[in-house]
Amino acid sequence: MKITVPMDSAAKAVGADEVVEALLAVAKDKGIEIDITRTGTRGMIWLEPLVEVEIDGVRHGFGPATPADAAAILDGSSDKALGPVEALDWMKRQTRLTFARVGIIDPLSLDDYQAHGGLAGLKRALSLTGQEITDEVKASGLRGRGGAGFPTGIKWQTVHDADAPQKYIVCNADEGDSGTFADRMIMEGDPFTLIEGMAIAGLGVGATKGYVYLRSEYPDAINVMRKAVDIARKAGVLGADVLGAGRAFDMEIRMGAGAYVCGEETSLLNSLEGKRGVVRAKPPLPALEGFLGRPTVVNNVISLATVPVIFEKGAQHYADFGLGRSRGTVTLQIAGNVARGGLFETAFGIGLDEVVNDLGGGTLSGRPVKAVQIGGPLGSYLPVSKFDAKLGYEELDSQGGLLGHAGLVVFDDTTDMLGMARFAMEFCAVESCGKCTPCRIGAVRGVETIDRIAQGDMEALPLLADLCETMKDGSLCALGGFTPLPVMSAVTHFPDAFSQTKEAAE
Ligand code: NAI
Ligand code: SF4
Repeated sequence: MKITVPMDSAAKAVGADEVVEALLAVAKDKGIEIDITRTGTRGMIWLEPLVEVEIDGVRHGFGPATPADAAAILDGSSDKALGPVEALDWMKRQTRLTFARVGIIDPLSLDDYQAHGGLAGLKRALSLTGQEITDEVKASGLRGRGGAGFPTGIKWQTVHDADAPQKYIVCNADEGDSGTFADRMIMEGDPFTLIEGMAIAGLGVGATKGYVYLRSEYPDAINVMRKAVDIARKAGVLGADVLGAGRAFDMEIRMGAGAYVCGEETSLLNSLEGKRGVVRAKPPLPALEGFLGRPTVVNNVISLATVPVIFEKGAQHYADFGLGRSRGTVTLQIAGNVARGGLFETAFGIGLDEVVNDLGGGTLSGRPVKAVQIGGPLGSYLPVSKFDAKLGYEELDSQGGLLGHAGLVVFDDTTDMLGMARFAMEFCAVESCGKCTPCRIGAVRGVETIDRIAQGDMEALPLLADLCETMKDGSLCALGGFTPLPVMSAVTHFPDAFSQTKEAAE
């Protein structure tokens, strides 16, 4: 009997390891022969631990499973049966390009990876020149999935055109946005796709060395990535002679120490160089003077992990999905107070209402949705009146939102929006690298100003708006510059939360 159970840390957190132990114990006790493979997660986190049993070549799901369900799962009498996993609504409605293999393959089996299309992109890239590779990425329309949405091909072109004895590929795996987990999920569930993407990037721009800067809070991802790099090197996917084609690319996993601001690319580069993680002024761009002062591609995990499928299926195939200037797919991470949270990959252009109320099923508490914060702690709180917004970079921007790394955190009607505005300022104050005054001092003053409003001092409200303007215009990086977004969106969309406190105080 072939069984798969995720080894993804979200599944482990809710007992996947214990379910595996119970399945093995029951099988031994009853003399049933079982073969358990640990995979990544399918992304339906509310169903984890999700046990999949292969019946006539089709994987049937059982979840959320507990150790007590093991016997019934093995004898086919479980009331947790969900039917064929691929036929579940959540799976059927997705367009899985970047996450096509996650939850299906054994993450550390290179054979399994290749049997599901892995390395086809790299093999194709090895037959192309650096310029042809860069042109393919440009044609795909891929934009940086870390948050800023800068065209990946143009970034690669800058590095490609730079003349230097050494260039680097740096993968930003310091996934710090609240409610985001796509980077972690792919590193734990399909690490070779990131390795392949980085190798293609190296061939494209002429870089022979790569680094994954991975946050220390992701021990499972670090473990899987390190093993995968070793396996890839031994198999000749990495090294001095990539797949016997006479081109070199090798890479290492480096661990961050846990600062939100180290997700900012220049701060990350400082940290990677062993320095304090403070932001560097731009220019020079990392594309020209990055790691150790050399031209460096700094790309997010999802951007790089999407490159293989672009080369496997062709740039046009990828570009055919999407809306406006947002081409391809977006890997939505649905979290917070939501009935069905998880990862959902779909073409750009899906409506916010469909994501929150249909896919997500509304709040877990069963109360009305009040707001959704998109794009991490620096994203706006969007009220229900904005739920007709489409999820694309420009489309959300026009609604005062920020797509960022595509994490969505849902809140119900009991949420204290003044408290949320305060939290945004407090987060900035705690995580500020300290380099510039509007952020370092402004965020501390911001917390104090919101406290004054909470105590009924309404004269502090214009002061808060003024402070936000200063932070927006005068901060060196996105942390100080974007914190005004959640703060002012709370003030704008939920004015009652700010005026009611006054009335209460009066
Ligand atoms: P940015 O707009 O300054 O830069 C975007 C990227 O394009 C950078 O890599 C920059 O070096 C590059 N670039 C710009 N012009 C270029 C050129 N001519 N040639 C080559 N490369 C060029 O944005 P930034 O500050 O890098 O990122 C801000 C975003 O980060 C925000 O939108 C926020 O959503 C996101 N963010 C994501 C987090 C996460 O956990 N994924 C955490 C915090 C923020
Ligand atoms: Fe550092 Fe904040 Fe300035 Fe960014 S905005 S450079 S985090 S002090």
